[in-house]
This record gives sequence, structure tokens and C-alpha cells, in this order.
Amino acid sequence: MNASPIPASEPLLRAEEVTRVYGSGPTRVEALRGVSLAVWRGEVVALQGRSGSGKTTLLNLLGGLDRPTSGRIFLGGQELSRLSEAELTRIRRRHIGFVFQAFALHPLLSAEENVELPLRFSGVPARERRERARRWLAYVGLDARRRHRPFELSGGEQQRVAIARALAAEPDLILADEPTGQLDSATGARILQLLRQVAREQQITVVMTSHDPAIPEFADRVYTLADGRLVEPAAQSRTAGNPPGVDSPPPPR
Ligand SMILES: Nc1ncnc2c1ncn2[C@@H]1O[C@H](COP(=O)(O)OP(=O)(O)O)[C@@H](O)[C@H]1O
Ligand SMILES: [Mg+2]
Repeated sequence: MNASPIPASEPLLRAEEVTRVYGSGPTRVEALRGVSLAVWRGEVVALQGRSGSGKTTLLNLLGGLDRPTSGRIFLGGQELSRLSEAELTRIRRRHIGFVFQAFALHPLLSAEENVELPLRFSGVPARERRERARRWLAYVGLDARRRHRPFELSGGEQQRVAIARALAAEPDLILADEPTGQLDSATGARILQLLRQVAREQQITVVMTSHDPAIPEFADRVYTLADGRLVEPAAQSRTAGNPPGVDSPPPPR
């Protein structure tokens, strides 16, 4: 993807007949078996399915953390599988924010320092790093917790720090793997609500995996994986899970 804006006539993210095989011989696993999907800018897409169905594998491929065995992944029209590791790293830092089940915060750093850290790697000047960290921590409701370290924060607060960290990079896309997996259901619902708010207010696309049954409420579209394949195309309507009157679905593009 270039620095130039992605044309609205194109999906932000596209997978074409993607497969991913792990191992060989007796340990061979076909984790994905021909998955095709498109994600549009500003959408919240949920990938659901049982444990082992291929959700994390697909999310990692969509984020350029891993490469498909066959098939193609496009981000903003650019084919990720053709890029070198260095180019992929650059694209990830610039365009993608990652949120993980286990938060992945640095235990010795404050909330603010955790949010700043990836910006340091991207070469953002110190003053701007601090400004962005404060702004996005305030956005996720943690203004008063800036100086706290992860162990001084609740699980939900830690996940908010991780979301602020993803936002501070000002990405086009947030990929969240089981973002509520370590949270109780009420806290998890607030995190899903926040991710939805991020998509609406910041025009950031969110793709998240979950086996949380509440997930369709927070997504514009739900894709279900079973045994490495997408199922239930009927459930993939744009309005799936949209509470009436709460949010209109994204406009047709
Ligand atoms: N690094 C790996 N090496 C070998 N097999 C893997 C690896 N990662 C995942 N798998 C296998 O691929 C399948 C899909 O896994 P995964 O994408 O993690 O599913 P999910 O996130 O839906 O639980 C599972 O059978 C899993 O055991
Ligand atoms: Mg997983």
C-alpha cells in the first residue's frame, strides 16, 4: 500500500482462495482451505468459529504476519504475499494496529510508555509520541491511568491500553485476535463497544476474531470459519447483528 489514500471503490482488504498448510506428513494440518473475503473501509468484521477453525491463522495472514501457502492477500490493492519482509514490516507499522488476547504490554513500562513504544520504532519524534500517547489514552478513557504499569491495571484497562497503542500509530486497520478472551463478559462487551466506536469515529477498519457468542452484536458482518473454510454465506449480510436504529450499515461502495 502506498502513502496515498486507498480508493473507496476497492476493498481495504481482500483474500483470494487462501490456503495455509502447517507441517508435513503425519503432522500436516490444512488450517485454511480456500478462503475468500473482502473487507471495506470503516467496517467491523468478526471472524467466528470454534477453537482450531483457523481464525488466528487467517488474521495473521490478513496482517502480513504470515504468508499463505497458496492464494493471495491484498491490502489496499497491494499484494502482501509479493512483498519482502522489510516492506511488510513497514506496511504493518504504518497501516495496521494489532490487538491480542493477552494484551502484550511491556510489564515494566507505564501505560503511556507502552503506547509510545511502537512510535519510537517508527521514528516519530519524542514530543509527538507523548502527545499522541496522551490523546489516545484519553480517547479510551484512561487519562487518569497514564502512569500506571500493567500490573496496576485491570484486564479491561490493559486491553484499552493495547487499543490506544494500536490507535496511536494512526492505522487504517486494526486486527484484534480474541480481544475479549481474557475478560469477563461485561468488560468484554465494553471493549467490543470501544472497537466499534473506533471504527465509526476514526474510520478505521476493524477485523476481530472471537468465539464470544456476543460478537455479532458489535459487527457489521460476521464470517464463520469451520475447519478452515468459510460457512454460512447467509450470515454475511452487511446488516448482520446491527441493532436496528443504533447504527446504519456502511454506505454501499
Ligand atoms: N504454527 C502452527 N503449526 C502447526 N499447526 C498450527 C499452527 N498454528 C495453528 N495450527 C493448527 O491450525 C489449525 C487452526 O489454528 P488457529 O488458526 O490457531 O485456529 P483458531 O484461532 O480458530 O483457534 C489448528 O488445527 C491448529 O492446531
Ligand atoms: Mg485463535
